[in-house]
Amino acid sequence: MLEHVRSRLREFGQEHLLRWWNELDDPALAALLASIDRVDFALLGQLFQQSKDAPAAAESLRQKARRATPPAGLIRQPRSTADKAEWQAARDCGAALLTAGRVGAILVAGGQGTRLDFPHPKGMFPIGPVSGKSLFQLLAEQLLARGRRAGVTIPYYIMTSDATHDETVDFFRTHNSFGLDPNDVRFFQQGSMPAVDATTGRVLLAGKGELSQSPDGHGGMLSALASSGLLDDMRKRGIESLYYHQVDNPLARVCDPEFLGFHSLRDADVSVKVVAKRLPREKMGVAVDVDGQTQIIEYSDLPDDVAAQRDDQGEIRFWAGSTAIHVFSRTFIQRLVDQRTDLPFHIARKQVSYLDDAGQVVMPATENAFKFERFIFDVLPLARKTLVVEADRETEFNPLKNKTGEFSPPDVQRSLMALHRSWLRVSGVDVADDVAVEINPLFALGPEDIAARLTDLRQIESALAGSQHGVHVTD
Ligand code: UTP
Repeated sequence: MLEHVRSRLREFGQEHLLRWWNELDDPALAALLASIDRVDFALLGQLFQQSKDAPAAAESLRQKARRATPPAGLIRQPRSTADKAEWQAARDCGAALLTAGRVGAILVAGGQGTRLDFPHPKGMFPIGPVSGKSLFQLLAEQLLARGRRAGVTIPYYIMTSDATHDETVDFFRTHNSFGLDPNDVRFFQQGSMPAVDATTGRVLLAGKGELSQSPDGHGGMLSALASSGLLDDMRKRGIESLYYHQVDNPLARVCDPEFLGFHSLRDADVSVKVVAKRLPREKMGVAVDVDGQTQIIEYSDLPDDVAAQRDDQGEIRFWAGSTAIHVFSRTFIQRLVDQRTDLPFHIARKQVSYLDDAGQVVMPATENAFKFERFIFDVLPLARKTLVVEADRETEFNPLKNKTGEFSPPDVQRSLMALHRSWLRVSGVDVADDVAVEINPLFALGPEDIAARLTDLRQIESALAGSQHGVHVTD
């Protein structure tokens, strides 16, 4: 076995991976051999080659961005009476789909959350501004509430990775799946990709018996769904539409009926929610059309002068920043899987610690490695029809990304509290800006739920009046 693996490694110039084999005990050696066996070295070689051509590839993406136009299949926030009627029709359609049990939810939670620097899966981060509830809990409770409203259970398909799987599954188990039926919470695990040295293309070792690996990007969802068998589960449950969201945005309106409804009424394969960028160079992917095909262009591929363009009204021309909230038709995902669609890998230069030839762990001062990730938005150009729907940025988008500053815990909590205060104010509750407020999703999913609960409103008012530390509005 060892010799067989060694000769395969030699073929690809990767025999250093066995350098420390005789220092490993049997289980550690077996684990190393198994992880080597899972690596597609031919693919890694191709990707490394591509990384050398990366400047040319980036240039061609930037050329492509010059042909971009604002997306044609677009629904903006409602302004006129006619718009409002259209949004109401979408809401009714989405509600009917939910009630008929045609909707499932996909949560991607396999990322390493390096920028946040939290020693657990990001979904476990305690973000509730008053309750301290985790991101997982706030999202799962929304799903539970949405299902109760519709009189159904909405299955939750949660993607994890080697980096997050065990802790995530354990967290759901110890919290009784936050009230969801465990049979309706289905975990599936994405793959990993090794990091390679940016000069030599050799796979980095994280330890004497361990390759340096990281999750293969949220686009790994396609192959992970395919190998999990969960597409069959979805089909058997009669699911048609999949609401896709990421673990870091607690403002996402999980399975919101308008978005589901528009997707269905417009007969789209994929829909994407966008919000208005605040600045032309903001680091968000933008939804655009290129050669008649809707797609997301990464901010790094959008040339400065294109990003700076304004329309006749003086608005940013490429304003439609992606929130990474989607609806996918199940049949579309199934078609991609049946056709064995391979999404492209994006290559990123990163700082990655590694074991050097002397067996010492080195933390490099500069970017020393390439990492390879697939992005889910690369399915957009494969769709027959794509729809872009505008959401209100203040109320639907503020993902937890960073330790400090924008998209940091205090920033996200501020948004959540501002949103919940606004719901109370619509119902006439007087709440000051400096009072910490959080509304349990099981109490209300939006302002419309609060207005109906007049007795509760009086209690909330007195709780607010007597509160020192903030109020968690709950049943
Ligand atoms: P990000 O691209 O923001 O990555 O993921 P991240 O891991 O959360 O954070 P950084 O970049 O390391 O700081 C956006 C969403 O995609 C998921 C994340 O869990 C998050 O919900 N994701 C990302 C995956 O599920 N798998 C991946 O391989 C990468």
